[in-house]
Amino acid sequence: MFEALKPQPADKIIALMDQFRTDPRADKVDLGVGVYKDAAGHTPVMRAVRAAGRRLLDTETTKTYTALAGDPAFHAAMAGLVLGADCPADRLAAVATVGGTGAVRQGLELLKRARPGFRVWVSDPTWPNHLSILAEMGIEARAYRYFDADSKGVDFGAMMADLGGVQAGDVVLLHGCCHNPTGANLTLPEWQAVGDLLERTGALPLIDLAYQGFGDGLDADAAATRLLARRLPEVLIAASCSKNFGIYRERTGILLTLAQDTTRRDLVQANLTTLNRLAYSFPPDHGARLVTTILTTPDLRADWEAELEAVRNGMIALREALAAELAALSQSNRFGFVAEHRGMFSRLGATPDQVERMRAEHGIYMVGDSRINIAGLNARTVRLLARAMIAVGV
Ligand code: LMR
Repeated sequence: MFEALKPQPADKIIALMDQFRTDPRADKVDLGVGVYKDAAGHTPVMRAVRAAGRRLLDTETTKTYTALAGDPAFHAAMAGLVLGADCPADRLAAVATVGGTGAVRQGLELLKRARPGFRVWVSDPTWPNHLSILAEMGIEARAYRYFDADSKGVDFGAMMADLGGVQAGDVVLLHGCCHNPTGANLTLPEWQAVGDLLERTGALPLIDLAYQGFGDGLDADAAATRLLARRLPEVLIAASCSKNFGIYRERTGILLTLAQDTTRRDLVQANLTTLNRLAYSFPPDHGARLVTTILTTPDLRADWEAELEAVRNGMIALREALAAELAALSQSNRFGFVAEHRGMFSRLGATPDQVERMRAEHGIYMVGDSRINIAGLNARTVRLLARAMIAVGV
């Protein structure tokens, strides 16, 4: 039976995690997978998550099933977090999913049911797993240019030129904030222009929102999503709680879908519920319940927001330190983009050969396209990275 299976290429990001683990060097530096780490290199359980966990332990009286679409209280709490106070609840369908990846997958499954043969426009580059999922599902992917290799910012002119090919019924996959892998993001006026294009063409946005709170703040990071949600009749949002709540292994995510009207919302909701049943019956609940408890309990929410802000400010400080170190070593401002980028990642613009030399000669691990996880740095390793970059000629 199994002989016909094809060997599988390892996922690049996950393979890098394994390679780092088996490297015996004591001074190795992990800037690979997108996981937050404190200055000691530890990924902590957030204070509010710990407190919510204790409360649940004391008050939860059952572990029976919730609902196929997940707990409605989780839907409401996340809709508020993502879409804000003026969320159009009468047009909103939602399903709890297995992490943000599960939300992307279920969103694409929904679209496949709604419109077989649709195409998805993806930024070049994008999170590699987007492309893998699309390929696995047999969905046509079209790339739009995004990253300007010279400025390390968004090449908005090229992006809009490519998106000029978008047609009604196409789907445009957008990173709501904190673009992965580049760290380069659109300005709000640029998002307006994307909204104009989507409105004009009748294309539908699928917004991957995996890092809300890691860029400029919870509301600022949701601003683009809210802007599109206000303007467009149909919007899909795949939101992850892995990073901003630090509950990676709980696999907590949600797919929020705005439909044109309540009748279509009900259809979407029924289909999403069926898709959950077909894929895994009931979605995981523990992480969703932690998130709901935090978002609906004022003292826990305040503490979570404060800790998230500290995490965000820490990453911005690391960006500034790295940019300053590189400015001093290179006697130039060509690395100023590191401080401008937002979120966990920056693409440094090193060649694959330079990336490999930084790993082999300096024990610094980053993804092959020179994406670094800013949160993997600390005051000491900022200097090591900057020296290594200059040493290999970045
Ligand atoms: C990343 O891009 O490093 C994260 O989203 C983790 C993952 O699953 O790839």
